[in-house]
Amino acid sequence: MAETITITDDRTGQTVTVPIEGGVFPASAIRSLDPSLFVYDPAYMQTASCKSAITYLDGENGILRYRGYPIEQLAEKSTFLEVAYLLLEGELPNPDQLATWTHDITHHTFIHENMRKRFVDGFHYDAHPMGMFVSALAALGTFYDGAKDIDDEESRQRQVVRLIAKTPTIAAMCYRFSAGLPFNYPSNDISFPANFLSMMWKIGDEYELNPVLEKAMDVLFILHADHEQNCGTTAMRVVGSSNADPYSSAAAAASALYGPLHGGANEAVVRMLNDIGSIENVPAFIQSVKDGEGRLMGFGHRVYKNYDPRAKIIKQTAYDVFEVTGKNPLLDIALKLEEVALQDPYFVDRKLYPNVDFYSGLIYQAMGFPVEMFTVLFAIPRTAGWLAHWQELLADKEQKISRPRQWYVGPETRDYVPMSSRS
Ligand code: SDX
Repeated sequence: MAETITITDDRTGQTVTVPIEGGVFPASAIRSLDPSLFVYDPAYMQTASCKSAITYLDGENGILRYRGYPIEQLAEKSTFLEVAYLLLEGELPNPDQLATWTHDITHHTFIHENMRKRFVDGFHYDAHPMGMFVSALAALGTFYDGAKDIDDEESRQRQVVRLIAKTPTIAAMCYRFSAGLPFNYPSNDISFPANFLSMMWKIGDEYELNPVLEKAMDVLFILHADHEQNCGTTAMRVVGSSNADPYSSAAAAASALYGPLHGGANEAVVRMLNDIGSIENVPAFIQSVKDGEGRLMGFGHRVYKNYDPRAKIIKQTAYDVFEVTGKNPLLDIALKLEEVALQDPYFVDRKLYPNVDFYSGLIYQAMGFPVEMFTVLFAIPRTAGWLAHWQELLADKEQKISRPRQWYVGPETRDYVPMSSRS
């Protein structure tokens, strides 16, 4: 049977039948019935804003694939740089492509000295690193003439390499500034995750890289690299649709990620676990959530109505990290929260499961990152996903500047009231 949908406008008796393809049907069907009729869909809950071949999610079955490859296999067998290439180019790189890609990224990790010595000094001493990171992304674009040449493929590729290469340097700079520590320059002879950890923690020439932590950082980068049309990526696409440069678009995406309902949740989870304080307090906290006094941060997802596949991998990675760092004492509270919530009808009925943010903060904290850095750690790898969607948007001939309509519920026309007549 043909997959179609027929819509009838009862006001006119007109009907239109359109195909259903890939689980969507074109909104142009509505336009053909009445150009002044719009679908009301707050938060785009039932709207597909674009076609994309980058990431596939199956929320009911907890499936996540980058360009068709299951996240579980990529986390186990790939590296973040290889995954970034996959997201951007659509295929896993061959040895020469990976060597060139790695060389290009490695040799673009430096940022202009004005960023390190003047720009960052403008922040208050206790500025939140994520606020600094968002600002730095936009500022970075002002250093490159070609940033706005978005119709030039070579220029776009140069900006893509710069953004992916420099986000770890910017992130480490934000941390070192907030900790009052001297900045570390990038190194060209260690891996992408190792370089980031070195810029974060090296004191003088002293930093002993632990391969378990290097691998854990790389796995966390892979898991956070992309996630379809999430809030931040939607911001990237909306801003990018006006032909803004990729640095300004990424700053908008990072701003969206900063929100506690989105990428800011990993920081909120650890603050929540600290507030709960002990396993004994878990039942009372769960009750407070059910009474509407707050949310169980790190739980729930717009798409996943089953366990977030990334949370499973992160939970395993946590045990690997704790072998090195010692167990994060908050883990027991997190495990108890999960155990109680997964048996409670309030959470089960609403299909609320741990998401990517529930356990990631425990790892970051055990690795020594302050909670203020957690969302920055999310933004570093997500930059690759944002840029992959930006490139896909610019290549999509069906796309144009994003400009949704509204359901106007304001006052009808009325005459100006002079001040003397106002109450
Ligand atoms: C990320 O989109 C992505 O892909 C995002 C992300 C990515 O990789 O980019 O996966 C990263 O953002 C993960 C989500 C991190 N956020 C949190 O952990 C914050 C806590 N979770 C939520 O606030 C919430 O679950 C959202 C924002 C994640 C999803 O919200 P929805 O889909 O809009 O669902 P909703 O707010 O409409 O909630 C539906 C019901 C409501 O109850 P009722 O009004 O029906 O009674 O579930 C309840 C909500 O109150 N609910 C929760 C809850 N999340 C939803 N109740 C308690 N605790 C929660 N965490």
